[in-house]
Amino acid sequence: MKGIEDAQLESRNVLLRTDLNLPVEDGEPQKTVRFERYVETIKELSDRGARTLVMAHQGRPARKDFTSLETHADFISEELDQEVEFVQSFFGPRLGDAVASMQDGDITVLENIRFLSEELQNASPERHAHDHFVENMSRYFDVYVDDAFSAAHRSHGSLVGFTPLMEAYAGPVMQNELESCDRVREEFNSGVLVLGGEKPSDIIGMMKHMIDDVEKVLLGGIPGELALKIQGLGSDKKNEWIERNSFDASQGEFEELMEAYSDKIMTPIDLATEKGDYRPEEVPDEMTWDIGRKTAEKYADIIRDADAVVMKGPMGAFEEHPSGSKKIVEALTESDGFTVLGGGHTSSLVQRFGHSLEDFSHVSIAGGAFVRYMSGEDLAAVEALSD
Ligand code: 3PG
Repeated sequence: MKGIEDAQLESRNVLLRTDLNLPVEDGEPQKTVRFERYVETIKELSDRGARTLVMAHQGRPARKDFTSLETHADFISEELDQEVEFVQSFFGPRLGDAVASMQDGDITVLENIRFLSEELQNASPERHAHDHFVENMSRYFDVYVDDAFSAAHRSHGSLVGFTPLMEAYAGPVMQNELESCDRVREEFNSGVLVLGGEKPSDIIGMMKHMIDDVEKVLLGGIPGELALKIQGLGSDKKNEWIERNSFDASQGEFEELMEAYSDKIMTPIDLATEKGDYRPEEVPDEMTWDIGRKTAEKYADIIRDADAVVMKGPMGAFEEHPSGSKKIVEALTESDGFTVLGGGHTSSLVQRFGHSLEDFSHVSIAGGAFVRYMSGEDLAAVEALSD
């Protein structure tokens, strides 16, 4: 896979696929680490004299975060203190004119690519290369740069369709993420996995793939509570909620792993409710929101002593109940080992808890792609770039 270091970009029309998919609160996209990383890539292309069209998606159809990228264009303009155009058309003279009017160093942002239904088909690069929009857009560009590591598990048109048609490169975010994740996949053989978040089904692949190489798996969030539920522990109210929301869909596989690796998998020794912390066998009929203080202290001690730690997913509902996640993230910053944070929500904890990216060996901005790559799966867009 070629990076852009040696690419000839000056005065060339560059189609840059980023992942500017941001959390949207009250209708407003929120700037995150992800946004900051892509601003750096966009700036590099602009500084090197490329005429860049930034392509990205935002949200999924029918969800609240399925919005236009116009605000994102304004954000980029503010950040770089440079005029940034926004183009709504994927076809026709409006797109052609927008590209033709760009001078060296100019930046234009294209509307949310998921507004096109063709984009969302899961198909091979060869099939996507014949998509109407891919064929049409490829006529305007000399170079395609894919920097969207966090969307690389999707075999969508903008991620795989352009590679058979033009000179294609991996962007710096893509390269950096792959290098760091490869380092974890190759060298992570005596560390600790900290797994939380909302979706136990997401982390099962990671557990299966990595558990033989790790010393301990520390469970928090819904996976931690599902593990307790399997043992007949935890809050009835929360366990019913887990069932109602189908977070127990992977319960069978989880149970098998827990039996086979009972010496490695650790579950919370207390859980936090609005009324206080309780041991898993004593939780009253209350919702539980976080790991308890004793669990956080125990996990933090293990993390501080570990040679390597990979954390994916917060320890609880961190917006209103941050203390468990805060303590664990803090322990990672205090460790001298190799520390990796992965996932959209997890990487946002860096800023939320007042840390900086330098406090960790690597912070992955990816969620689904990170989990799949760590589970040993190939990523469609990475394969397309390598081919
Ligand atoms: C992400 O935020 O994980 C990526 O942008 C992929 O988004 P998706 O899960 O909607 O495809």
